[in-house]
Amino acid sequence: MPMIRETIVTTVNRDGHMHIAPLGIIADGEGWILAPFRPSTTLENLSAVPFAVANYTDDVRIFAGCLTGRHDWPTTASDTVPVPRLEDALAHVELTVDRVSDDDQRPRFHCRVVHRGSHAPFEGFNRAQAAVIEAAILVSRLHLLPREKIESEIAYLEIAIGKTAGIAEQQAWGWLMEKIRAHYAENRANSR
Ligand SMILES: Cc1cc2nc3c(=O)[nH]c(=O)nc-3n(C[C@H](O)[C@H](O)[C@H](O)COP(=O)(O)O)c2cc1C
Repeated sequence: MPMIRETIVTTVNRDGHMHIAPLGIIADGEGWILAPFRPSTTLENLSAVPFAVANYTDDVRIFAGCLTGRHDWPTTASDTVPVPRLEDALAHVELTVDRVSDDDQRPRFHCRVVHRGSHAPFEGFNRAQAAVIEAAILVSRLHLLPREKIESEIAYLEIAIGKTAGIAEQQAWGWLMEKIRAHYAENRANSR
């Protein structure tokens, strides 16, 4: 299996309107593959404007925020591509799409790194950050996974939150738990 790095990917549409989404970028030699599912804004944007920025951040509120309707994070112009980057990213890579392997479910955009930037030091691992990212992935699959699996995985991840979270991680976790509760409450209402 290739290595996957969990990042915040920024893209733009033809009008220059930016979109922010968490994406696992797949190592591909010196470059990266972006594999957005159909349908998604990231996919539409990459098809229209073949550039992206992969932002490396330890602010897990951005991962949880994007999955809970909070898309408004500060950005700034990139150095070489017409796509903004996250202002508070620790580092980022600017990508151009070299070629696309089409697929009914998940086309793959093979990207070349055209610029790298480093902005702030990486200050070590935090288990609660990893737990928030795992929970964000579960939230992105709420409609696909059985409720028991979601609940048992959340129960396990919550241990790291309780033991190691700072304020940002607690906030991100709260947003995700709220979304899970709302999802099951809505499902119950619909099945009545
Ligand atoms: C850590 C993480 C990694 C993700 N990786 C992918 C991915 O590789 N491809 C994808 O389509 N969605 C991925 N998702 C889900 C997307 O972020 C989410 O569904 C998003 O809304 C994509 O659709 P959009 O471009 O319309 O916003 C990931 C979510 C998380 C939390």
